[in-house]
Amino acid sequence: MNRQRSEKAVTLMEHISRGEKLLESRGLDPGEAAAVFAEASGITPALIHLEGKSYPARKTLSSYYRLIRARRARMPLQYASGRAFFFGLEFRVTEDTLIPRPETEILAEKALEHLNLTGGGRVLELGSGCGNIAIALAVNSDAELIAVEKSPSALETARVNAASHGVSGRVRFLEGDMLELSNVLSGEVQGSFDLLISNPPYVSEAEYGELEEEVRKEPPGALLAGSDGLRYIKPVLEAAPSLVKPGGAVFLETSCFHREPVMEHVSRIEGISSPAYLKDYSGKDRVFTCRIAETYS
Ligand SMILES: C[S@@+](CC[C@H](N)C(=O)[O-])C[C@H]1O[C@@H](n2cnc3c(N)ncnc32)[C@H](O)[C@@H]1O
Repeated sequence: MNRQRSEKAVTLMEHISRGEKLLESRGLDPGEAAAVFAEASGITPALIHLEGKSYPARKTLSSYYRLIRARRARMPLQYASGRAFFFGLEFRVTEDTLIPRPETEILAEKALEHLNLTGGGRVLELGSGCGNIAIALAVNSDAELIAVEKSPSALETARVNAASHGVSGRVRFLEGDMLELSNVLSGEVQGSFDLLISNPPYVSEAEYGELEEEVRKEPPGALLAGSDGLRYIKPVLEAAPSLVKPGGAVFLETSCFHREPVMEHVSRIEGISSPAYLKDYSGKDRVFTCRIAETYS
């Protein structure tokens, strides 16, 4: 932090207050200004108040007002800064990757618990985006992962993220369609995975129209899933018994409104046992999980 008085002698707190007004005038939460300053300066929001009377460096200010302008244009802060956090790890994100969500951490956490109980193994992830789930699992376990993603530019970002977390040797990213896995996994032994994990697109067309402007800046292909939001979930569940070993596990993020149709759908799939829903931190049914029956092969 530059403690010299700048030409205009405007303190950090005064810049925060300007940011608050700029955000508020666009109908945004003024409280975001401190988070934007924290992103621009690298200091924590708690320290901002302690440093309130200091004079920020010109470089920090130019970054701060660039991010404020981006937020006024309803650009998510993570796209403007190029980074997001998931499972305590930093990931590069671009406008071609979904921004990792806090509610998805429960999906990774439950899968990780399973991996650590069963001693790791082979994991298949479908729809990897910036690689956050696969990389979080690789960093926190000994698992070997294959992650499938349709978007070539998201894959490029995921590979950069895997390299920066030092797990490129254990996460293999494959370009392809999760609805045509026999083509994508042609060189792999299907039925050899210990765990299948996915946060597939699951927003229905009707819900998409209601989303905030920021969310509609994310790739529609990462969100949209047909008229009922189940376009990917149903076929992935149908494929699970032929992808995962008997006794292996499936963890799938869904909308909290999908519990009933998903439970109904899996009741008709041979080879699925112990279907259940796990709640996210706000108490919503979020993660579908099941085992592949021991007798299934
Ligand atoms: C909801 S995002 C999940 C991203 C990331 N795994 C996460 O949890 O934050 C879904 C991802 O699936 C990818 N996707 C969409 N359709 C696909 C398909 N048919 N095959 C493979 N990936 C697909 C999207 O590009 C997107 O990256």
